Amino acid sequence: MSQNQYPHLFKKGTLGTKTLVNRFVSQAMEANDGEAGGSVSKRAIDRYKNLASGHWGVVVVEALSADPSSLARVNQMILNRENLDGFKTLVAEFKKIAPETILLFQVTHSGRKAVKSHSSATALYNPAEGEKLLSTQDVEDIKNAIVEAALLAEEAGADGVDFKMCHGYFGCEMLRPGNVRDDKWGGSFENRTRFLTESLGEIRSRLKNPDFILGSRISVYEGIEGGCGTGGPDEIIEDLSEMEKVIQLMEELNMDYVNISAGIPGTTSEITRPTPPSLYLYLHQFRYARWAKNIVSKMMVIGSAYSILKEGALELADENLQKGYADCAGWGRQSFADPLFPEKVKTGEAVNYCTACSGCSKLMVAQKNDGCILYNDYYKDLWKNRNK
Ligand SMILES: Cc1cc2nc3c(=O)[nH]c(=O)nc-3n(C[C@H](O)[C@H](O)[C@H](O)COP(=O)(O)O)c2cc1C
Repeated sequence: MSQNQYPHLFKKGTLGTKTLVNRFVSQAMEANDGEAGGSVSKRAIDRYKNLASGHWGVVVVEALSADPSSLARVNQMILNRENLDGFKTLVAEFKKIAPETILLFQVTHSGRKAVKSHSSATALYNPAEGEKLLSTQDVEDIKNAIVEAALLAEEAGADGVDFKMCHGYFGCEMLRPGNVRDDKWGGSFENRTRFLTESLGEIRSRLKNPDFILGSRISVYEGIEGGCGTGGPDEIIEDLSEMEKVIQLMEELNMDYVNISAGIPGTTSEITRPTPPSLYLYLHQFRYARWAKNIVSKMMVIGSAYSILKEGALELADENLQKGYADCAGWGRQSFADPLFPEKVKTGEAVNYCTACSGCSKLMVAQKNDGCILYNDYYKDLWKNRNK
């Protein structure tokens, strides 16, 4: 195994105006290890330094909350002014090791996927019992928080932001046909995409760096009634016609990339991250990336869900890139199993392959710090002692 075997994965390219040194993307992976107030911990900085040593083409920093009152993880990092110095340090330390890697911050609001103990804004539409229906102004405030977080990412030195519009979080809920709000944030396609168009417009008008990368991760098909990738609020069968319009809109908005994902962790988890019994669901993710490639003309397409294929992912990723079915290949759990993955592939060193054991997810759901329980002693111990 070496660089020569995977010429397309190691082919240079451009993302926005920046050079992409290879096509390996380390996907956003929450590790639930912020300090009090959602500040950046030493553990988080060390994790990203490890990823820097892997010399990925792109590293996406995990879901960072734009709003302290909506956390999906109790120790989720919060991208606000109070925590800015920590994010500056994270970027500086990362860039010392890997100045060539594109470093993106994923910005999010957790919506009703926030933990109840750490959430004040839980519903966007159709509130369940006990859930608060966000007012028109509440949604406006969330949009403003996302805009501020994106600008803080620029101030921290990140190369760009990834708008989290996937996996059932707030941005994703917005897009759904099931978003039946009767104000300016729901109902029509225009209203359901207003959050994206307005945030982007405001960010662009205030950014200092014209080369700052703007992209988004979407769940092409969520697998729930009225979810993204269905034909209406009462439909569950896949119908991608509207998501095609979403991608076209992203391109009209001059976004630099779309990161293709699917499903909702915790609800239709296997679609998002296949495990051994659902191995072949990765084929849907490949299909969605190829479908997106047929829609875009200039925006880059990042494909997801390669970890389940272990070493075999390399050949399939290379083939997908060669055939023009994606521009980059994204690894989530594999980046936990071996942060040095691309570098090891390049040099032919043995890689620690993710077995899709789900240990990282289970630690995360238990609100512990999470990471690879197979190869990392810290998380191995957390796993052993998880019930204590
Ligand atoms: C522990 C854990 C944390 C995750 N955190 C995020 C996140 O912060 N943002 C995101 O978009 N996806 C997140 N995901 C999804 C992954 O980025 C990825 O899409 C998924 O694991 C499938 O890719 P893989 O098969 O390569 O792991 C997470 C997944 C896991 C297992």
